[in-house]
Amino acid sequence: MIDRNILSKLSNKKTPFYYYDTSLLRRTIESIKKESGKYGYHVHYALKANTHDAVVKEMVSSGFGADCVSGNEVQYASEMGIPSERIAFAGVGKTDEEILTALRVGIFSFNCESIPEIEVINELAAKEGVVAPIAIRINPDVDPKTHEYITTGLKDNKFGINHWDFDVVASKLKKLKNIRLTGIHFHVGSQITDMSVFEQLSLKINKISAWFKDNDFQLQHINVGGGLGINYDSPASEPIADFAAYFKAFHEYIQLEEGQELHFELGRSVVAQCGHLISKVLYVKQGLETQFMILDAGMTELIRPALYGAHHDISVLTSELEEEKYDVVGPVCESSDVFAKGVMLPKSQRGDIIAIHSSGAYGQTMASSYNMRDLVLGYTTEEL
Ligand code: LLP
Repeated sequence: MIDRNILSKLSNKKTPFYYYDTSLLRRTIESIKKESGKYGYHVHYALKANTHDAVVKEMVSSGFGADCVSGNEVQYASEMGIPSERIAFAGVGKTDEEILTALRVGIFSFNCESIPEIEVINELAAKEGVVAPIAIRINPDVDPKTHEYITTGLKDNKFGINHWDFDVVASKLKKLKNIRLTGIHFHVGSQITDMSVFEQLSLKINKISAWFKDNDFQLQHINVGGGLGINYDSPASEPIADFAAYFKAFHEYIQLEEGQELHFELGRSVVAQCGHLISKVLYVKQGLETQFMILDAGMTELIRPALYGAHHDISVLTSELEEEKYDVVGPVCESSDVFAKGVMLPKSQRGDIIAIHSSGAYGQTMASSYNMRDLVLGYTTEEL
């Protein structure tokens, strides 16, 4: 999984840090381009998953657009060289300042999540003397069958506009002069591995886009969001997600009008598998039933296990001794600062190097400096 040839380079860096395998990242991007290209689909990279500059540069050269959720992400995407006509901006709580940033960048689409937000965008666009392209984010009430914290498209979630508000939205859209409806937007959740969820979503979208057509709206694009999951259990056996099956699911079930574009916002599936959190064993301590392997990385560097009970595969890169049972924990003053409980790993000692795999998405971007810890850094293969 991690090329042994780079072990000496990894050992020379101050731990903990993220290592991004550029070769795997490029192969993943190639697979996305090949499979989405078959149908002429448009891919936006969801910046929230990973904003390490060198990683984002790969997205820029691949020609992907960006999916942003803050004014800072919009500004960053634009500064990194993502063409403004490929930048989408979602989020339930866009501030006036953020909306103005996006209006000035001149983005592809404001993905609007409420009626008052549409009114505010119209008002600010009028002040700026422009017409803002908007897509209505719709809550399709589709169960993504994933962790409740990363479910976004059920009717009691805060995201999107519900179908019972469509009539009000339609009349607003017809009246407001400084917005222009260009599309509809969806995103039902993340880490979705059951392709039937995308089939369900496509069938719901067909009904919803028919409603817009019946109400005399011409939709230039449909944006289905992101959500494709990866294999956290055995990343080595599936380093690249099944993009062929993913895009095919939409191709089979979604009905597009002549000339209508289909857009995607992929985050996790693009960057998760290429990232590894590299850490050192500080101490091994005997607990009641298991030993604690205490690392210099903790929930401040990778919060997913503490926040979602997420599983990340762990390897000891510097020991091939017989396996023993460990609770792998971090140094932070919280009992939830645990990466894994009761896992079998090669017998380890102080100084051994550990890799926590599949952590390229929502790892470094969710890091904090709680306990006044240094904010974790990241390096691609070339940057090591
Ligand atoms: N589009 C929208 C509107 C989103 O909210 C998201 C993710 C994406 C696209 C990208 O979804 P992806 O392809 O990565 O599944 N921190 C959580 C994941 C939160 C996802 C938030 N929205 C985690 O670590 O699992």
